[in-house]
Amino acid sequence: MEGVPCLRVSHCRAQKLREYLQSQKFLDRSLCIVKEDTGTVLVPILPSCLLQHDLIFFKDVTVVWCQPSVMSKKEKGRRRGDNLEDVLQELLEFHGENWTKEVREDLPRSFQRHGDLVLLGHNCFLLPLWKKMDQRLWRAVAKCLRAKRLARMNRISSDGFRSPQVTLLLGEQSWVKHVDNGITYEFDVTKCMFSAGNITEKLRVAGLDCSGETVVDLYAGIGYFTLPYLVHAGAAHVHACEWNPHAVEALRKNLATNRVRDRCTVHSGDNRQVQLCDIADRVNLGLIPSSEDGWPVACRLLKKTTGGVLHIHQNVTSANAVASHAVADADDSVSGKRAAREAWQAWADVTANHIACILRDLTAATWRTNVQHIEPVKSYAPHVHHVVLDLECRPI
Ligand SMILES: C[S@@+](CC[C@H](N)C(=O)[O-])C[C@H]1O[C@@H](n2cnc3c(N)ncnc32)[C@H](O)[C@@H]1O
Repeated sequence: MEGVPCLRVSHCRAQKLREYLQSQKFLDRSLCIVKEDTGTVLVPILPSCLLQHDLIFFKDVTVVWCQPSVMSKKEKGRRRGDNLEDVLQELLEFHGENWTKEVREDLPRSFQRHGDLVLLGHNCFLLPLWKKMDQRLWRAVAKCLRAKRLARMNRISSDGFRSPQVTLLLGEQSWVKHVDNGITYEFDVTKCMFSAGNITEKLRVAGLDCSGETVVDLYAGIGYFTLPYLVHAGAAHVHACEWNPHAVEALRKNLATNRVRDRCTVHSGDNRQVQLCDIADRVNLGLIPSSEDGWPVACRLLKKTTGGVLHIHQNVTSANAVASHAVADADDSVSGKRAAREAWQAWADVTANHIACILRDLTAATWRTNVQHIEPVKSYAPHVHHVVLDLECRPI
């Protein structure tokens, strides 16, 4: 792994999360908790905590990997003076501007780190006064965030490629490198998305035993799941479908870098046009909010005589269930969790029936679909959770 695992959480929720982690013995006490300049806090955790499902019930918790020196108790003292607020206040005053509440609220609250590049969110540095500071502003921000390059995310586009609309603010080159669980991912941050929040699911895929299996990854992107299937789960062969040409370029590069190119066939284009059938022991459908468009394709791909397992990603809303339990702050309460789990189970049951019907219509045979497991990945929005359904499908 690159760095130490931490949970990034908003300042107001940090105390509750820390107490919870401590009670579960997940807090890494050899490292210190770091307050970021962005109103968030990094809480160091032990790697075993990454498999803790209840975490997704904490609002706005993201898993990030940090340099050990950032969390080191020794280094903590030395960092004072490098504070983003102090530095920007000085810069503003130099340009004859005042430090106001409005300015403070315009600072980044969260960001992603990809190697030496920091990717800021879309809701910061929007005030016109920053414009006159030009590159000086970005150089100061980069220095405080200990980055060499800086980019800003506008929003993930709805062009079907889920391409991020990213502008490079500092630096020339937009390819970044991420090392995760021994796998190297490289991609152009302005052209492809990296689902940092899917780390627990990537670890789960890496822990599967797929030896001898043919796997199809219908939404391969730059190889977020294709690579763990090949490198760690030992799949005999993966068919990786992807229609964004920039992601395909990165995927091919990553297959070569991780030395698994010979066990992967890349299908560039719309997965609904792929001419394969009756080949898969396992199909990964990693698209949110829903991969429903890919269900008939996945069913066609499953081996007709033995069937296999579908891993179906979906954002499931539990708002109605929550209302019926009359819970104020559902995500953190016991009944909120119960309502969410009931909503996932209801969705899984409906999906299992739906898939059985598609399989029956495709093969003119009867199939048994069995909800093997429902894996919560992350909380996407209030009462909306990204979950993965492991659905075993066998012909009777
Ligand atoms: C959410 S992204 C990457 C998913 C990755 N599995 C993950 O969770 O991090 C989904 C990918 O599916 C691709 N995609 C969406 N619809 C597709 C289709 N019909 N055929 C092929 N690729 C598709 C997008 O270009 C994008 O790269």
